[in-house]
Amino acid sequence: MDLNTKISKGIIKYQRFYKRFAKYNLLNFYYFCRMNKIKIIFKFLKYRFKSQTKFDIHSPFVYELLIKCINDKKKYLDYIVIENLRKDLLKNKKTIEIQDFGAGSLISSSKTRTISEITLNSAKQKKYAQLLFRLIKYFQPQNILELGTSMGISSAYMAKAAPNAQLITIEGSNNISEIAIENFRELNIENIIVKTGNFDNILKDVLKENRNFDFIFFDGNHRKEPTLKYFQQCLSYKKPDTVFIFDDIHWSEEMEEAWAEIKNSEQVSMSIDLFFIGLIFFRKEFTKQHFIIRF
Ligand SMILES: C[S@@+](CC[C@H](N)C(=O)[O-])C[C@H]1O[C@@H](n2cnc3c(N)ncnc32)[C@H](O)[C@@H]1O
Repeated sequence: MDLNTKISKGIIKYQRFYKRFAKYNLLNFYYFCRMNKIKIIFKFLKYRFKSQTKFDIHSPFVYELLIKCINDKKKYLDYIVIENLRKDLLKNKKTIEIQDFGAGSLISSSKTRTISEITLNSAKQKKYAQLLFRLIKYFQPQNILELGTSMGISSAYMAKAAPNAQLITIEGSNNISEIAIENFRELNIENIIVKTGNFDNILKDVLKENRNFDFIFFDGNHRKEPTLKYFQQCLSYKKPDTVFIFDDIHWSEEMEEAWAEIKNSEQVSMSIDLFFIGLIFFRKEFTKQHFIIRF
C-alpha cells in the first residue's frame, strides 16, 4: 500500500470515528463541559475572593439572616428523611419519557432518562436544598411558589419547613410530576399542590388564582429571557416582604445577565449572592444594596 492510500484510508477512518462521535453529540458535550467548568471555576474563585463574612456585614437584617439562618449548622430531622428519599431515587434505574424544556439540564437533552439521572442532574444539592428549608423556617411564608418541581426534593424541603403553609409547585413534564406526587405521599407531605404544565401557559393563572406569594423559588428554565419574563410576571403579585430566590445565577452568561438585570430592577431593594443561588428582597426600609456572601 503506497503512502497516499494509507493517508486516505486514515482520513476515512477518522471521518467515520468523528461522525459516530458527533452523532451522539459527545464532542460538543465534551467541549461544552470543559468550557463551562473552567469558566465556573474562575467565577467561583472570584466570588470567594469578593464575598463577605459575618465580620464584614453592617446591615442588622443581613447579619441576623446570616447568623440565624444561612450559617445555621443544626441537623434537622427532616434533612435525614428527605436525603433518604434522594438516595432511593439515585438508585432507581427505571426510565421515563420526559419533555425537554431547553436549558434545564447541563448533561443531556435526551427524552428518555432514568429517574436516577434526572435526580442527579436536576435536584438541588443537599447544601442548597437545606438552605431553602432554613430560609422558609426563618421567614415563615404562608404562600410559597416553586417553578420547577422535578422529583420534588426542593419542594419537600420547603414544605417540611412550614407544614402550615401552602406550596404550589409547577412542573412541565407529566411523568416527572407524577413521580413527585408519589414522593410527597411517601414523605407524608400534604401541603403541596403540584400544577402540571408549561410555565409559559399556566404561570399567569396560578399567580392570578393565588395572588400574593410571599416566597418564590425560580428553578425551571435557566435561560435569560424566560427567567426575566417569569420574574416580571411574579413582580405584580409580590408583597413588600416577599422573597424571590433564583437558582444557578452564575450557571451561564445568560443567567449572569438575567441576575444583573433582576438585582438592578427598580423594585428590588436588596440582593444577596450566595453563588449557586441568589436572594432578592423588596422591602422599602432598605437602601439599595447588593451583598456577596460566603456560603
Ligand atoms: C432544575 S429542575 C427543578 C429541580 C427541583 N427544584 C429540585 O431542586 O429538586 C427544573 C425542572 O423544571 C422543569 N421545567 C423547565 N422548564 C419548564 C417550563 N418552561 N415549564 C414547566 N416546567 C419546566 C423541568 O422539567 C425540570 O423538571
